[in-house]
Amino acid sequence: MLVTLKDSLVHAEKENKAVGAFNVPNYETLRAVIHGAEELNVPVIIQHAEVHENLMSLSEIGPMMIAMAKKAKVPVAVHLDHGSSFEKCMEAIRLGFTSVMYDASDKPFAQNLAETKEIVKIAHAVDVSVEAELGSIYTSVIGGGEGRVERTAEELKPENMYTDPKLAKEFVTETGIDCLAIAFGAVHGLYLTKPQLDLKRISQIKQEIDLPFVMHGGSGVSAENYAVAINSGIRKINYYTYMNQAGGRELVNYLGSQEANQPPFFDTLSLVAYEGMKRNVKEALVIFNQL
Ligand code: 13P
Repeated sequence: MLVTLKDSLVHAEKENKAVGAFNVPNYETLRAVIHGAEELNVPVIIQHAEVHENLMSLSEIGPMMIAMAKKAKVPVAVHLDHGSSFEKCMEAIRLGFTSVMYDASDKPFAQNLAETKEIVKIAHAVDVSVEAELGSIYTSVIGGGEGRVERTAEELKPENMYTDPKLAKEFVTETGIDCLAIAFGAVHGLYLTKPQLDLKRISQIKQEIDLPFVMHGGSGVSAENYAVAINSGIRKINYYTYMNQAGGRELVNYLGSQEANQPPFFDTLSLVAYEGMKRNVKEALVIFNQL
């Protein structure tokens, strides 16, 4: 069933859980996520990342996402991830998405605030939820891709990247967003070194504002750190890289087990990748929902 992001996160807050949010740039991934959530009977968020337009455009995958969400046996929010422009957010809203992320986190604070506020006004008028980002969530050179920008050494210092609790309060009060993506050391893509998370920062921000928080860069975090993050107020966890790689790993294993005398059939490969991703999605959902 199709739900708004806001409703899903309010529910997660009551139950002290996080809702898994998975990028779905193709049909295999879309089915793996919905079916994985149905098998565990938990709500889920499916999202289209604007950087994945090259894999499947919003206008192609969007209607499929909505149709699958409506038909699902569990609550599903359909979300635009890292929307970079007013136009992209409006395109998603017109398609029937129940939530959009407007990511102007690379812009100056006042501009991020003013532009986000404008999107909130329109989105809320048609019962669509809005996520925004404050701080800077770094993108690893391997995988990821969302919000990828080059950074100077100065910009990479934690005090310049991580979300400032006081600014977060001002931003949320002024914009009226439904959830805030906060930066505390998680990165998009594969970690090149052990994750260094400033988990205390989540509670510090929570003391300032009572709003559901979003963790981007959910792949590669330990079960213990996920639990601390959830108990501190993270209600949406964005997760893609490990699921994507799980599909690839399953294919490598399958191909290695086959006689090499003729090429494999693509429909078989599609199913193999789907199974590998679904297994990975379920593992993540068990942790996010504290099952
Ligand atoms: P990962 O690359 O860590 O899976 O994070 C995905 C994400 O944050 C999408 O917005």
